[in-house]
Amino acid sequence: MDPNRRAIAGVAKEIAKRISDGMVLGLGSGSTVAALIEELSPLVMAKPKKIRGVPTSTQIEMVAERNGISLIPFAGSVDLVVDGADQVDSDLNLIKGGGGALMKEKVVMSSAKEVAIVASADKFSSKLCERGAKIPVEVVPMARESAKVKLSMLGGVPEERLLPKGYPFYTENGNLIIDTMFEPLDDPRSFEIKLKAVPGVVEVGIFTQKPISVFKLNPGGSFDLLESGD
Ligand code: A5P
Repeated sequence: MDPNRRAIAGVAKEIAKRISDGMVLGLGSGSTVAALIEELSPLVMAKPKKIRGVPTSTQIEMVAERNGISLIPFAGSVDLVVDGADQVDSDLNLIKGGGGALMKEKVVMSSAKEVAIVASADKFSSKLCERGAKIPVEVVPMARESAKVKLSMLGGVPEERLLPKGYPFYTENGNLIIDTMFEPLDDPRSFEIKLKAVPGVVEVGIFTQKPISVFKLNPGGSFDLLESGD
């Protein structure tokens, strides 16, 4: 087993301890949470009362189905969210949305009793947007150009996300993603609010919700647990 997978398997055992009978899990999207679900499902299958999942994308829906996790539609709350991240700052704020699932991820996370994020050590930095990390901004198609202008006025360098052959990338909500580079953020929460105020913006990939637990996957196969205050 490669060290990254070994670390994920260790995290799955820790997360399984937080899962009790009949819980509803919010399933974030991406490759890390996919690997986590593969390791987690055999550990929670044995529970007498079924664990059910709320998916945030078709990608994770397929992973959950392959791993025997029953899926239910989002009904307003979940017990525990498991998710990945693209960048994590020293206050455990996150950039998410590398796969375009940010809107459903934020809705489900905002209604979760507990949040567990899993991210490899290379994704950690002191501030969000360091090392050129971009913020995914989901916009309705008609605001494609106007949103770019406004994101530039806020100091950003916006770039529309394209598929490898040059076609626009559409989210599962039928919107576009403008990946935008900014200077490192001093106050992610107020910047999140500022970006959300741009007309046509549906959601932004800055996640500042607390409390949150973040499992940091170390290169050697171990992991650290970092926890925020409220
Ligand atoms: C999905 O839109 C994202 O928020 C993912 O959770 C994030 O991009 C992390 O993905 P990986 O685990 O694949 O790096």
